[in-house]
Amino acid sequence: MTLLHTSSPPDGVVAHHPQGFEQPVRSESIDLAVVLPTYNERENVAEVVTRLERALAGLRWELVFVDDDSPDGTSAVVRGLARRDSRVRLLHRIGRRGLASACIEGMLATSASYVAVMDADLQHDETVLPAMLKKLREDKLDLVVATRNAEGGSMGQFERKRVLLSSVGKKIGHAVCRCRLSDPMSGFFLMDRNFFLQVVHRLQGGGFKILVDILASSPRPVRFGEVGYRFRNRERGDSKLDLNTGIEYLFLVVNKLMGGAVPLRFALFSLVGATGLATHFACLAVLMTQFHVAFFPAQIVATYVAMTENFFLNNLVTYRDRSLRGMRLLVGMVSFWLACSPGAWANVIFARALLQSGYAWYLAGIAGIVLSSVWNYSMSSLFTWQMPRRRPATEAVDGVVANRLSSFPRGMAGYR
Ligand code: GDD
Ligand code: MN
Repeated sequence: MTLLHTSSPPDGVVAHHPQGFEQPVRSESIDLAVVLPTYNERENVAEVVTRLERALAGLRWELVFVDDDSPDGTSAVVRGLARRDSRVRLLHRIGRRGLASACIEGMLATSASYVAVMDADLQHDETVLPAMLKKLREDKLDLVVATRNAEGGSMGQFERKRVLLSSVGKKIGHAVCRCRLSDPMSGFFLMDRNFFLQVVHRLQGGGFKILVDILASSPRPVRFGEVGYRFRNRERGDSKLDLNTGIEYLFLVVNKLMGGAVPLRFALFSLVGATGLATHFACLAVLMTQFHVAFFPAQIVATYVAMTENFFLNNLVTYRDRSLRGMRLLVGMVSFWLACSPGAWANVIFARALLQSGYAWYLAGIAGIVLSSVWNYSMSSLFTWQMPRRRPATEAVDGVVANRLSSFPRGMAGYR
């Protein structure tokens, strides 16, 4: 680890000392900040710092790790690194998950003129950063993307499935990005801070695809450049990309196409609700036709079967960042039934009232569904899926941490 940068004030800034002496202020404004989101990357962070230090020699830089309270104790390892080199910083988020929001908050936590985002798992080639910075400055661009699909770039040994997924994502991304980037799925890019501040209030912030979010949020055409790089294989730790990432991406696109009107979690909740509707009707049909159950009891059973299905799907998809397990799963299911029961009744009563006031049956039906969705969403996010709290990880001693973490539910007073 090198020593702190202590050269003479480059900007020649002078300030008035209280006793009347003129004293130079040490101004060491940072050129480049690299934001590194981490979730369970304790085995990679030390190496990524070493490599970045080598790649960024000669520049004034800082690294901002944004860790979402990784169960493997990544934050403690980063804190250990930061104690040895103050250019390494840590933003430790508790009760939060999400790659895109981690990147955004990391970028907001620095005052460097240029901000890069890079994975912390050694898959992104840090040696292209100086070339990216040079391009951004010389061509006066807003954004430079390290791309796997341009000259000098490659997907590396990406599985065919991932290559295909990436190209489908790219096609969808073009619809909202309004610019023809060769790799809008990239999680490796560099931005002018002023440009970032222009778009930051419009960002959706959900999911994995922060670059698409940024491009789709720009109020004007983005001046961008590209630099090719070869995507490396992951040697340690696991990828966090999964089916949910894909669903979140689709929602990002839909959200952007609709001008950002629908919050991501509510959109996911509604999608899950739509599958519940299918379950409800299937159940109702089977009970009435196969088992000759009367409509009213059949309707009640179908409602609770659909609710149960919704509970498990929401636990897997909508609230995967705080999904319940073990005993808490059981308690959560009961609280979901309780939270959603008034919603189901409200649905029926409201729809019937509208129908009686002369509205068409389908309008009455839709209004009932909207009412109960908003109710169910609000109640279940308050009572069923509260943010879990973790006990703090044991501090790192020279990068070694004891991994003794456990989760426990937040008390009733801690609702947000
Ligand atoms: N703070 C935080 N919170 N970090 C996260 C989270 C999260 O919820 N999920 C993932 N990360 C971190 C990982 O620790 C890693 O440093 C980085 O984000 C990328 O996650 P991976 O799980 O390694 O993703 P990937 O390799 O499958 O995909 C990446 O590379 C693609 C190609 O460049 C991502 O960057 C994609 O966005 C990118 O398209
Ligand atoms: Mn990765």
